[in-house]
Amino acid sequence: MKNPGFVLSIIVLALAFSSALAYDPDPLQDFCVAIDEPKNAVFVNGKFCKNPKLVNTNDFFLSGLNIPGNTSNPIGSTVTPVFVDQLPGLNTMGISMVRIDYGINGLNPPHTHPRATEILHLLEGILYVGFVNSNPENRLFAKVLKPGEVFVFPKGMIHFQLNIGKTNAVAIAALSSQNPGIITIANALFNSKPPIYPNVLAKAFQLDGLVVEGLQKKFWYDNLDLSPKRQ
Ligand SMILES: *[C@@H]1O[C@H](CO)[C@@H](O)[C@H](O)[C@H]1NC(C)=O
Repeated sequence: MKNPGFVLSIIVLALAFSSALAYDPDPLQDFCVAIDEPKNAVFVNGKFCKNPKLVNTNDFFLSGLNIPGNTSNPIGSTVTPVFVDQLPGLNTMGISMVRIDYGINGLNPPHTHPRATEILHLLEGILYVGFVNSNPENRLFAKVLKPGEVFVFPKGMIHFQLNIGKTNAVAIAALSSQNPGIITIANALFNSKPPIYPNVLAKAFQLDGLVVEGLQKKFWYDNLDLSPKRQ
């Protein structure tokens, strides 16, 4: 070997370059527990892919988003998702959307999307929208939206929308994941299965234990409409 130093530096560079290109993909589901036996496998970071020869136009098509969601429910809002479960062609594409309907005083309650930033376009009505950033600042970024206005909820931030107008409201939002995930704060904490030990919530929210137990007995409505695709 004429110049072992040169060869070594090439190897070091190659290793550095390969580690710069190789990274763990962001998870596309809440968790993915490893199993040795593929028999019980469900999906791995997304869904299994359909044989491309069998793919057809309808794999990329969905209709029915013109139909208003039913807002006759305890919080007065309904989210109609177009995630990978509804539109298979979204698999691995890093994007999805929702239609959100709000009755008068309807609320899309404080929630986060662990895997997606959301950009919301208000079509009709008046919404008070906002999000709160991370500790320790916990600053509220809030705004009243009119039709034609757009607001971004950065990935992972707790956010909400309230209809403060005199009519129904409807918005379309795009999300930067095929499967954004939705964690509604109140539902997750007060309606977990099994319930969180009340002292945890009493201390965290500065509440009496009996108040916490009362909250845990309440019905916590989930406004995500997973009824079959509306054609
Ligand atoms: C909306 O939901 C309410 C409550 O479940 C139900 O009574 C009503 O019939 C629904 N309306 C429509 C148009 O489906």
